[in-house]
Amino acid sequence: MADELGIFEVMFNCRAMRRIKPDAVPEDLLRRLIEAAHQAPTASNGQNTRWIIVRDAEQKMKLADLNREARRVAYGSPAPATDPAMARRQAASKWHTDNLQEVPVHIIACLEFETPPLDTFARGVGTGGSVWPAVQNLLLAARALGLGAVPTTLPLADRPTAKEVLGLPENVEPYCLIPVGYPMGNFGPVTRRPIDEIVRWDRW
Ligand SMILES: Cc1cc2nc3c(=O)[nH]c(=O)nc-3n(C[C@H](O)[C@H](O)[C@H](O)COP(=O)(O)O)c2cc1C
Repeated sequence: MADELGIFEVMFNCRAMRRIKPDAVPEDLLRRLIEAAHQAPTASNGQNTRWIIVRDAEQKMKLADLNREARRVAYGSPAPATDPAMARRQAASKWHTDNLQEVPVHIIACLEFETPPLDTFARGVGTGGSVWPAVQNLLLAARALGLGAVPTTLPLADRPTAKEVLGLPENVEPYCLIPVGYPMGNFGPVTRRPIDEIVRWDRW
């Protein structure tokens, strides 16, 4: 059973899956993803993550258009990569950009605040801290269930428009859009630098 993978196996094999089949994902699996995400810690146990599960074609097209526009502004038309690994990533990113509306589910991770946060506050790392552990739980759960996913922020770069599309009230901020579905390709291990390059013991 896919969801009987060990936790370390899941973590080490949870790479960004951008090419996703259009096949629908059963609602009970989507609920399971949110249940897993909801077990993550939040500051002061505020439990203030909120989730918008988008399956509507028109809504997905609007979000895909926002992603295309943000990518155009951020990257323009990048020169074709020469390195094979980079070229594969570039092709997957292009597929994702062109086809985001075809991915069956877009899950948007949000935080609800008691009062509308100042814009700079909402974008700050501190306030977003309560959403990212839940996002990672969701990614790991998706991997364990054989679903492909990738955390994305570009579709939410134009925050006011994204909030309007999603009908979010002033005190709910979107942080991450996670396209979810059955992957076209194979799962595989992530590639990371050795930890000796990123660890310092006792002080920098
Ligand atoms: C905060 C955050 C924002 C990201 N935003 C995007 C995005 O807008 N579009 C996208 O295609 N991938 C996005 N990613 C995915 C990363 O590019 C990906 O996780 C990274 O390249 C590692 O990929 P790998 O796990 O397959 O090695 C984002 C990841 C994180 C953590």
